[in-house]
Amino acid sequence: MNRTLIIVKPDGVARGLVGEVLHRMERRGLRLVEAELRTLDAATAARHYAEHEGRPYYDGLVSFITSGPVLVAVVEGPEDTWRMVRTMMGPTNPVDAPPGTIRGDLATVMAQNVIHGSDSAESAVREIGIFFPHLA
Ligand code: TYD
Ligand code: MG
Repeated sequence: MNRTLIIVKPDGVARGLVGEVLHRMERRGLRLVEAELRTLDAATAARHYAEHEGRPYYDGLVSFITSGPVLVAVVEGPEDTWRMVRTMMGPTNPVDAPPGTIRGDLATVMAQNVIHGSDSAESAVREIGIFFPHLA
């Protein structure tokens, strides 16, 4: 799988970090296939985060991701592009994210960690299908 889904979350859009995130992807050599600013509805957010249903942070996660516009995008690069993007993002908790990563440079707390990226080839296919069904 040489495509993956990214979402610049509402905190990233509100802070004006869309360009910064896309700039990092483009400088790395990844190609933008699709990008659109959208405000997610609860049903789409629930579908996207289905694996997290029942977790203590789930309600907060869904209300946060639907709280304002997000940038949903598909980027393309080498085999397992999802893995390259995850490395660029850094760990889920920005406290653990090294400098040089998106979360390590731009975020402080897990609930507002700037970016989502698919976590496997299967997730990339599934998530691209949710947001850009014409690419599936
Ligand atoms: P997860 O898929 O585990 O992380 P990632 O975004 O790195 O793939 O979790 C999805 C989001 O849920 C995460 O970005 C932030 C939020 N979250 C919390 O708020 N608290 C938590 O304890 C976890 C695990 C996630
Ligand atoms: Mg995840």
